Amino acid sequence: MPTEAMGLVLADSVLAHGLNRIQREVDEAFDEFLPVPEDSRARLVEAMRYAAIGGGKRVRPLLLVSTAELYGVARSAALRAACAIEAIHVYSLIHDDLPCMDDDDLRHGKPTVHKAFDDATAVLAGDALHAFAFELLSAPEMSSDPFVRGNLVHTLAVASGQGGMAGGQMMDMAAGSESFDLHTITRLQQLKTGALLGASVEMGAILGHVPPEGRVHLRAYARDIGLAFQIADDLLDHEGDEEKAGKALRKDAGQGKQTFVSLMGPDGARQQARALVDQAIGHLSVHGDEADLLRALARFVVERDR
Ligand code: IPE
Ligand code: IPE
Ligand code: MG
Ligand code: MG
Ligand code: MG
Repeated sequence: MPTEAMGLVLADSVLAHGLNRIQREVDEAFDEFLPVPEDSRARLVEAMRYAAIGGGKRVRPLLLVSTAELYGVARSAALRAACAIEAIHVYSLIHDDLPCMDDDDLRHGKPTVHKAFDDATAVLAGDALHAFAFELLSAPEMSSDPFVRGNLVHTLAVASGQGGMAGGQMMDMAAGSESFDLHTITRLQQLKTGALLGASVEMGAILGHVPPEGRVHLRAYARDIGLAFQIADDLLDHEGDEEKAGKALRKDAGQGKQTFVSLMGPDGARQQARALVDQAIGHLSVHGDEADLLRALARFVVERDR
């Protein structure tokens, strides 16, 4: 086999192993973290479990643990922080699917939370997962170092709020009616999707006690894959397979929503995503083989079909 092809096969197996492992670990952790209480809160926790266990690719957890691994962080600590960021992501999807937002009936190949339960339960399940993320990070079990705990909480809070995911979602709501240029769409996507992906990498580095000046290349890597990730999501929406994606597609154009695909065309968007991935991998040149999972993950971000 030519060396280049061998490299690709190797990258595939590194990635498949990394994804399988983190998917299993995150499912087991949520199962343990979220026991169903024996009173009328049961419905709330069942909805949280319904959304959080199974289905997701767990890209954010894998980014966090793979970054933490570069700096020799214990797997159990990285996994706890990874569940916190995934809890925020899961909450964002529950609310994103609500009738007042994207009004979607299918997520991860099954009915969305408000369809399987009801709107009020879905709102509360999102709220409770949001709070749960910060409960995980601020607990003494997270780290014996209060500075690390505070830093993790702060990083995730900034990435989740108006200067991050929620702010991006607000801009996204406007993208169906207002006319945005490429610069504004880029800003929107950096907030809506890039902020949490960036926080995943950042939190892995915080656990590894990497000072901010030592994280510059990781931030650059995360910024590039964050954008590439959302371009891939927009391309999937435009031309993907609903069965594989496990969610309704062809929604963006239907809602008149401006995306990278509507502004650049599918081929331009694809080219841009691939260029961003090459650039992202370039930022990892200071690392050796130990960053191969982060490299493979960058490729996966644009080549994925779900
Ligand atoms: C989907 O995110 C929503 C976006 C931010 C683009 P993912 O594609 O990571 O969702 P799951 O968790 O793997 O389904
Ligand atoms: C959702 O973006 C992003 C967040 C939940 C922050 P989309 O609305 O494009 O995600 P999908 O396509 O429903 O997964
Ligand atoms: Mg949306
Ligand atoms: Mg949506
Ligand atoms: Mg989408």
